[in-house]
Amino acid sequence: MPELPTGIDTSRPHPARTYDYFLGGKNNFAADREVADRVLAGWPAIRVGVRENRKFLARVVRYLAGEVGIRQFLDIGTGLPTANNTHEVAQAVAPTSRIVYVDNDPLVLTHARALLTSTPEGRTAYIPADLRDPASILNDPVTREVLDFTQPIALMLIAILHMIPDEEKPAEILATLLDALPPGSYVVASHITGEHNAGAASGERTFQQGGMAAQWRDSDVFARLTFSGLDLVPPGVVITSEWRNDDPGPRPTAAEVSAYGGVARKP
Ligand SMILES: C[S@@+](CC[C@H](N)C(=O)[O-])C[C@H]1O[C@@H](n2cnc3c(N)ncnc32)[C@H](O)[C@@H]1O
Repeated sequence: MPELPTGIDTSRPHPARTYDYFLGGKNNFAADREVADRVLAGWPAIRVGVRENRKFLARVVRYLAGEVGIRQFLDIGTGLPTANNTHEVAQAVAPTSRIVYVDNDPLVLTHARALLTSTPEGRTAYIPADLRDPASILNDPVTREVLDFTQPIALMLIAILHMIPDEEKPAEILATLLDALPPGSYVVASHITGEHNAGAASGERTFQQGGMAAQWRDSDVFARLTFSGLDLVPPGVVITSEWRNDDPGPRPTAAEVSAYGGVARKP
């Protein structure tokens, strides 16, 4: 890995880098791997879960850009670039798609170039910001320049809300973001659950012990928090691998995936 810019603390684990490790990436450090290995010991199938999460992201973006005709995406908690980033999937369907990526990990910022490979007809941008301060995301001049808030926007919160515990007031954060979006916009989210797997459930504590925020939620709690007042797109809130998946091959179990996903439209 090239020399790191200042501001990146490799001595403490961080969610983007542990996720990268689960996905088989190289942008992670000993502290990340140490926590990730402890999570893996209790929930060996987490690698299935994170792969299914990425497939869920790709299916949803294809659905929104294709069937629904959404052309704008606000992707908060982007993660380190990997295969099938949101803009690649959206612009493969609709080259005019415009995407704003947001993450609070300074390491993601150093890799942002890989997220900025837009088609000439579309646009991608990256802003370093924190979901817990939604106004800073909405008011950022880059957000305002790239996204037209009079036209529908897909708000993507994929595998991030389980890092916003109740004391951080996730419902208020969501309300602020949703208020800013015009009718016909969409919310997309996925979320870890401990409902089907004691090992996955214990991963919550392992992340917390590593100094990372974590609160797993059951499907009804996740659905109420994220999609209240919105029109859920069928099949509703389901295990991510089951969301509009036409793949005839064998599917992983709910216990392996241990994450819910859903998509809803703002009326
Ligand atoms: C598990 S990764 C998910 C990446 C991607 N959305 C996906 O599903 O493949 C979660 C990402 O959210 C970011 N994140 C966590 N808390 C955040 C916060 N409060 N504000 C902004 N980004 C945050 C992490 O840095 C990480 O990149």
